[in-house]
Amino acid sequence: MKTKTLLVLGDNKDFDTYKKIIRQKRFFNGSSIAVKSADYESVLAGKFPNISTATIIILPCFPFVYWDKHIEPKKYKGVYGNKSFYAKFNVFWKKTEKKINNFYKKKKLIFINELKNLALDRDKENVKMLVSKRGVSIPKRYNTRNLKSILKIIDDGKKLFVKVRYGSMGKGITYLEKKKWMTNFRFRKGKIQCRKSDYGWSFVNCTNNLKFLKNLLKQEIIIEEAIDSLIINKRKFDLRLYVYKNKILYAYGRTAPADSITTNISQGARGEKISFVKKLPKKQLERAKKQAVLSIKALGLNFGGVDLMLCPDKKNVKFIEVNTFPGFPRVRRFNLSKYLINEIIMEFK
Ligand SMILES: Nc1ncnc2c1ncn2[C@@H]1O[C@H](COP(=O)(O)OP(=O)(O)O)[C@@H](O)[C@H]1O
Ligand SMILES: [Mg+2]
Repeated sequence: MKTKTLLVLGDNKDFDTYKKIIRQKRFFNGSSIAVKSADYESVLAGKFPNISTATIIILPCFPFVYWDKHIEPKKYKGVYGNKSFYAKFNVFWKKTEKKINNFYKKKKLIFINELKNLALDRDKENVKMLVSKRGVSIPKRYNTRNLKSILKIIDDGKKLFVKVRYGSMGKGITYLEKKKWMTNFRFRKGKIQCRKSDYGWSFVNCTNNLKFLKNLLKQEIIIEEAIDSLIINKRKFDLRLYVYKNKILYAYGRTAPADSITTNISQGARGEKISFVKKLPKKQLERAKKQAVLSIKALGLNFGGVDLMLCPDKKNVKFIEVNTFPGFPRVRRFNLSKYLINEIIMEFK
């Protein structure tokens, strides 16, 4: 007998998570949980599937269609990653929540992740504050936006990451080191320019381009120290950990050649097999797992992906970010949906 229903929200063009989860729904066979799905266009139009069980568990995936249409449209002309991205995303979740509560007002609703927390990970400044309050180790940040002060910091031998505050996918990142400035923005005719595509944000040398740096410092950015990475097989990496409540469902390394700036798969880094994680120092890996769980909790989430870097001392780890909507690994490599489904069954059976 089905006593509860899992309602998966997403977009039909989302083969990365929404479609993957739905395709694995056979793992609910024999459990007390039925599975239904709805795309966000229908949700916003107030059209939902009819559900007979009294309890509905809601699992939201990323709203790609809405995002591309209303938040980051192709015609967008401003600098990528400013506050309007965050504000508009919050509006979307408010609207969605209202529609859900309205349609299923007689039901008991359980959210895998509360909708009001789904935009939090987009604000890189706030996220670091929230996780560090829980004891997670974050890179040192710099508050100055003064050109001379920044130049002095670099001159003193510090290495800095300048990232747009509300960005993601490795877009809008600049690296500053004495005599080595690199950015994946472009700077033409005194203006910061962004690629239209999510991919191919390659880094170019911008050493001593003071006009660019001056302009960049006026944007909504975060500035933090560069974390040195433990090097494995001549590659730098960060660790992606998928967390559900207190459990790590899966962890894998995202690696790039040692002289790379970022390790975003969207920008060409490589997702490593499980054998890579087995090479990592045991205690450091355990620390990473603990910090990942704390990070998810700090954002009021139950499920998410956390990126951490492992320091060359083989002891410490540093927080990079939380992904409320992490991409799922290829099913052949690791069937994350299956493991997530198992957790949901165990919790709500
Ligand atoms: N402080 C840092 N030190 C070293 N590498 C960093 C630092 N911040 C970011 N990176 C690298 O850049 C990548 C992208 O940074 P991240 O903060 O995750 O932004 P995005 O949301 O665009 O993915 C990280 O995965 C990591 O490889
Ligand atoms: Mg990232």
